[in-house]
Amino acid sequence: MRFMLIILFSVFALLGPVAAQDGVADSRASTGGAQTLEDILARQAGQAIDDSFRSDATGDPARAAPTTGQLGTLGGSSDPELWRAFRYGSADITTQSRGPAAETLIQDGGMWWLEFREGPLLTYGGYLLAGTLVLLALFYLIRGRIRIDGEKTGRKIERFKAFERFGHWLLAVSFLVLGLTGLISLFGRKVLIPNFGHDAFSTIAIGSKWVHNNISWAFIVALVIIFVVWVVHNLPDRTDLNWLAKGGGIFTKGHPPAKKFNAGQKLIFWSVILLGGSISLTGVSLLFPFDLQLFAPTFAKLNAIGAPGWVGLAELPTTLTPQEEMQFAQLWHAIVSLVLIAIVFAHIYIGSVGMEGAFDAMGSGQVEEQWAREHHSLWVEEVKTKEPAAAAKEA
Ligand code: HEM
Repeated sequence: MRFMLIILFSVFALLGPVAAQDGVADSRASTGGAQTLEDILARQAGQAIDDSFRSDATGDPARAAPTTGQLGTLGGSSDPELWRAFRYGSADITTQSRGPAAETLIQDGGMWWLEFREGPLLTYGGYLLAGTLVLLALFYLIRGRIRIDGEKTGRKIERFKAFERFGHWLLAVSFLVLGLTGLISLFGRKVLIPNFGHDAFSTIAIGSKWVHNNISWAFIVALVIIFVVWVVHNLPDRTDLNWLAKGGGIFTKGHPPAKKFNAGQKLIFWSVILLGGSISLTGVSLLFPFDLQLFAPTFAKLNAIGAPGWVGLAELPTTLTPQEEMQFAQLWHAIVSLVLIAIVFAHIYIGSVGMEGAFDAMGSGQVEEQWAREHHSLWVEEVKTKEPAAAAKEA
């Protein structure tokens, strides 16, 4: 008898999984409305599935037995049905908060944003910054410090006035603080939590956010200052073509003639103004959530000129939910910032260790005349012709 029982048990144990596999192929009805294996596989393969069998399964309060009845319930929806209704945005929600997105407790459509932010954005952003530092280190090893080639004169020329240097350093300090606190917000969960724990990260993250939000105004003010004081010197002209054609003289003897700013510096200036301006705009929209609609109108304009087609993309969406507007703003803010940080790394390198005599321009404001003649020959000529005229005027 015992032997028979063991055989029977073994047969059921072996048949069990087979029966379960047969079951997944059954229609949804037999799973009580839950997903089937086919549904899950189709979703994983990125195919569009009609998920109304789930999105509509949010309970039926009308069919709930009255609470006064013997088997009465407090409602006609189970917990899973209620959460499903939150997720599909069909729950009847009342909130005290009156924002545009106050009634969205779970935004299912935002998963792409979350996955992109925590995946490729961190990975490629990290590669970009680390790669730039490696390239700069290699450049230093190959080219070394760009020295003043000729004999130093001991004479100084005023390169930047105090107000220009104030604008530059306000921009630089605010940018560095924004960059650091921004990177903490972006990479903190992945990099800082494993090393410092949740409690320490919480304090760091709250502090970073506060500093980031408040110092942003200093950056915007500085951006306006440097734009106003330097835009005339950064308009492109013919000398830039020659400078670029000669690669700025980086790997050759002697430097091509340049006015106050050479073509390389003009590229830095316009990158800072345009990318910095775009970062500021998206930053303000993140600071005042849901107040600025930036992306839907921009996408409509891009669609109108057929821009998405140029890079093989379909038309961009022109009706965005308030959350999607914020998600695009966050991604754009982060991507453009990462690009500008990489550019600024190169700028800081050349303005400090990379070139002899460059730092003085922003330090004391006075540069060695020989440095100026080598890097900005046309500007020196301009200053020298103006000097006697100014002296004559004073006399
Ligand atoms: C913190 C380290 C930094 C150092 C040591 C530094 C150094 C310098 C120097 C020496 C110049 C004058 C170059 C010349 O005389 O021709 C300069 C110009 C400039 N800096 Fe910086 N800078 C720093 C950070 C920044 C940051 C963070 C930004 C922008 C976010 C910035 C934007 C500019 C711009 C737009 C110019 C004028 C164009 C150019 O010379 O490339 N700087 N900087």
